Amino acid sequence: MEVLLGVFSQILTLRNLADKGKLEDEALEIISNGGIWVENGKIKKVGNFEQLAKEANNQEVEILEFPYADLVALPGFVDCHTHIAFAGNRAKDYALRIAGESYLNIAKAGGGILDSVRKTRQATENELIANTRQRADFLLRQGVTTIEVKSGYGLSVEEELKILRAIQRASLLTTADLVPTCLAAHTLPPEFSDKSAYLEHLANDLLPILLQENLCKRIDIFVEETAFPYQIAKDYLLKAKNLGFELTIHADQFTTGGSRLAVELNALSADHLEASQDIEIQMLAKSETVAVVLPGASLGLGMNFAPTRQLLDVGACVAISTDWNPGSAPMGDLLLQASVLAASQKLSTAETLAGITFRAAKALNLHHSKGRLQNGFSADIAIFPTKDYREILYWQGQMKPIIVWKNDKFVEF
Ligand code: NIG
Ligand code: FE
Repeated sequence: MEVLLGVFSQILTLRNLADKGKLEDEALEIISNGGIWVENGKIKKVGNFEQLAKEANNQEVEILEFPYADLVALPGFVDCHTHIAFAGNRAKDYALRIAGESYLNIAKAGGGILDSVRKTRQATENELIANTRQRADFLLRQGVTTIEVKSGYGLSVEEELKILRAIQRASLLTTADLVPTCLAAHTLPPEFSDKSAYLEHLANDLLPILLQENLCKRIDIFVEETAFPYQIAKDYLLKAKNLGFELTIHADQFTTGGSRLAVELNALSADHLEASQDIEIQMLAKSETVAVVLPGASLGLGMNFAPTRQLLDVGACVAISTDWNPGSAPMGDLLLQASVLAASQKLSTAETLAGITFRAAKALNLHHSKGRLQNGFSADIAIFPTKDYREILYWQGQMKPIIVWKNDKFVEF
């Protein structure tokens, strides 16, 4: 099936932007009066609408002209770090936090991640499928067409499998592409008192099943003294790597260590980085590991943003994601968070858009097919009701796409 879409006041292809480092807005390729020619879910050509229409008229191509005067087309966004497969909420924790209690103290007192574990264990697989699908669709309405989804509120073989199976089933029900990640190493479950013993159990009894059932090919861990310290995390990740899994790490959220491990193991990404210092920032910049910053967690916890400007200045590949989860980041609005981060950290529009498109795709090893409007890439397109792309960040997430195009059709909301 071939379709020519248009007419777009502006198409931002992002196809010529560098994988890493600083980006100036002058580098943005903007096609005026543009058209996008798609074939079987992929982009065939991007260019001037009139010229493409002439070509299309000579062939069996459907021409779809939208009934709007002002439209800006961007690559569908990629949210490369979420925890949307959970049950219940943590409004009680949030009330305590805004009144001054710390995230770590709340966790010690029985709130925090283990509270969501209790609620998620009580939920059926069907409830988790419905929750995950609903949240994926909420992101899709914002133009997010690819969404990473972590397990991590099960913390036993059986419960982690329940969550990952639910993510797999939800991916058949939403139009967004879901990328599953196993975060069984989120925190120590109540059934264990020894962190190494728990991780050894996961490596022996869970990871092989994930491969057999084809449930996910990515492993994550929360590296922190209060969760899993550097050395025992390293032992676990090495086992996962030997089994062929891709790696990602919750790194440097409160203390450093995680990002160093991510670089040493050539992980796809090191995520959080609020506590990263010059040495970690330099290390990430020299590596191929994507630095994923999570403004939603900073907003949810009332903490500083990760040093995003510095990371870009020294040459890191920076992605921006929601971290949507019931505890630290309950909001789930990628564009709002990216806009606020950009205003605070002084990011250019090009850097901000790169962070939620092809640079986030790199954190998922999908940068050869997602995140740029380029021949051969997925035709995942977020279309906004404006003639000036700068309005998209200006409205700080309040301007939503009017059309999301994916899998050869309009996404029905
Ligand atoms: O990325 N830091 C660890 N994990 C999550 C929070 C999970 C939760 O609080 O439920 C995060 O912020
Ligand atoms: Fe997270």
